[in-house]
Amino acid sequence: LRTILIGPPGAGKGTQAPRIRDKYCVCHLATGDMLREQISQKTVLGLEAKKVIDAGELVSDDIVVGMIKDQLQNNKACKNGFVLDGFPRTVPQAEKLDSMLAERKEKLDSVVQLQINDQLLISRITGRLIHPASGRTYHREFHPPKKTMVDDVTGEPLIQRSDDNVDTLRKRLSTFHQQTGPVVDYYKVKGLWHGLDAAQSPSVVWDNLSKVFKAPP
Ligand code: AP5
Ligand code: ZN
Repeated sequence: LRTILIGPPGAGKGTQAPRIRDKYCVCHLATGDMLREQISQKTVLGLEAKKVIDAGELVSDDIVVGMIKDQLQNNKACKNGFVLDGFPRTVPQAEKLDSMLAERKEKLDSVVQLQINDQLLISRITGRLIHPASGRTYHREFHPPKKTMVDDVTGEPLIQRSDDNVDTLRKRLSTFHQQTGPVVDYYKVKGLWHGLDAAQSPSVVWDNLSKVFKAPP
């Protein structure tokens, strides 16, 4: 399976992608997670990226394309396929992905847009809690951890992302509509696009995703 999840902040990409990874034994490549890893390691790239992320803007195409290229080449789990989460976010990123896949003689199966009204995303984003080491995601209201502010599996503390506030969210949403909107059209033209109602519960979204992956191309 080679698929892409596209959707605005809080649409549920990071909630659904690990399920796809586990069911189809593919790699889950999330450029946002990779950038946050750089930030936590305080690398030069991470320090630069933090400013851009906290402003709700996009880091440069070259940086994220380089990260995806490296993973596709070196992450053994990607041999079996992949689910891309948060990449590509611009048309140049989508074009670079096409040429990377052409070199690998691989083709995308599907591009799934998680569609949801901006208004519903405010509560999802402001209530989100994450376990940084694993990327596991919780929600204060919709998916609370068993113990307050603690990861169910490791018992380690949960944190709130620094870009998960209302002001930065507004900017992230407008960045999404302006820069990632055209990526949706890019894949519609190629006949790979599927739209899916992301306002449903995570289990309903998952059922509908499974149907997309079973559908003949
Ligand atoms: P990134 O980490 O990709 O953030 P994002 O796209 O803004 O998406 P989120 O992670 O906020 O949302 P999600 O769809 O994963 O939602 P989740 O499943 O967690 O990128 C961060 C930043 O990095 C960008 O702003 C940019 O600066 C930079 N960046 C990253 N990639 C880049 C690229 N390719 N190019 C340039 N820059 C890049 O769900 C959210 C919450 O809702 C959770 O609490 C969850 O529990 C809950 N929830 C999920 N589904 C449901 C549901 N169905 N019902 C109720 N609650 C739900
Ligand atoms: Zn995410």
